[in-house]
Amino acid sequence: MKWTVVDDYDALSREAAAILLDAIGTSPDLVLGLPTGRTPEGMYREVVRACHGRYHCFRDVTTFNLDEYAGIPPSHSGSYCSYMKRNLLDHVDLQPSRVHIPDGTAAAVLAGNPELSLEHALAEECERYERAIAATAGLGLTILGLGSNGHIAFNEPGSPFDSRTRVVHLAEETLRANAEEFPGERVPERAITMGIATILASRSILILASGEAKREATRRLARERPSPDFPASALRMHADVTVLVDRAAS
Ligand code: GLP
Repeated sequence: MKWTVVDDYDALSREAAAILLDAIGTSPDLVLGLPTGRTPEGMYREVVRACHGRYHCFRDVTTFNLDEYAGIPPSHSGSYCSYMKRNLLDHVDLQPSRVHIPDGTAAAVLAGNPELSLEHALAEECERYERAIAATAGLGLTILGLGSNGHIAFNEPGSPFDSRTRVVHLAEETLRANAEEFPGERVPERAITMGIATILASRSILILASGEAKREATRRLARERPSPDFPASALRMHADVTVLVDRAAS
C-alpha cells in the first residue's frame, strides 16, 4: 500500500480529483468504482470544477457505485442515487447508459417478474450488478471511503473476503454515522453492496480518509493483518492501493 498524507481535507479533495482525472486522461474509457459518503464530496466538487467547460471529460467513462440502501427508491433524497446526481451526474457528461447504481427496490427485476418476492428480486438485482461489471473491461480504478469500523462500501466487520455484490445488514455504528442523511426518518437497515472480492478485482484502488474520527481506522489499516474483523484490511492483499489521508486522520 502506498500512503500519501496531505495537510487537510481540501488538499485531500484536490489530490483525489487529480488522481481520478489523470486515470481518465490515461484511459478515456475507464471503468470506475465510485464511493458516496461525506469524505468524497470534496473530490467530486473538484472534479466538477475541473471539468466545467471542458467537453468529453467523462464521455467514454463507465461507472459503478459501490453501494445503495435497500428499500428506498432511487428518487429518495437519502439514496446514493440522489447523492450521485447532486455531486457528479448532474454536472458532467457521463452517459446515463454507462452509469450503474444498484437499485435498492430492484424495480427493473420486479417489472420483468412481478411474481418474485422482494427478497428474491434484490438477490437477482445483485447478480445483475455483478454481470454488468463482468460485461465491461472490469473495474480499472475504484475509489473508497473508510468507515470508522473499517467498513469499505457497506462491507461491515465479518464480511468474507470472497464476498460479491449482495444484500447486507448495516452495523449499529453505521446507522448512527449515516443518520443525518435521513432527517426525521430511520436509516434503512439494509443495503446492496459490492463485495470485498468485487472491490479487490479492481486493477487499482484509492482509499480516502479525513478527520480525527478516522484516525483509529487508518491506524488499524496500517498495522493489522488481513482479517474480516476489519474489512479494509483486505486491501493489504492488493498490489495497487493508494491510501490518501489528511493529517488529522493520519
Ligand atoms: C458509508 C458508505 C461508505 C463510506 C463510509 C464512510 O456508510 N456506504 O461507502 O465510505 O460509510 O462514510 P463517510 O465518508 O461519510 O465517513
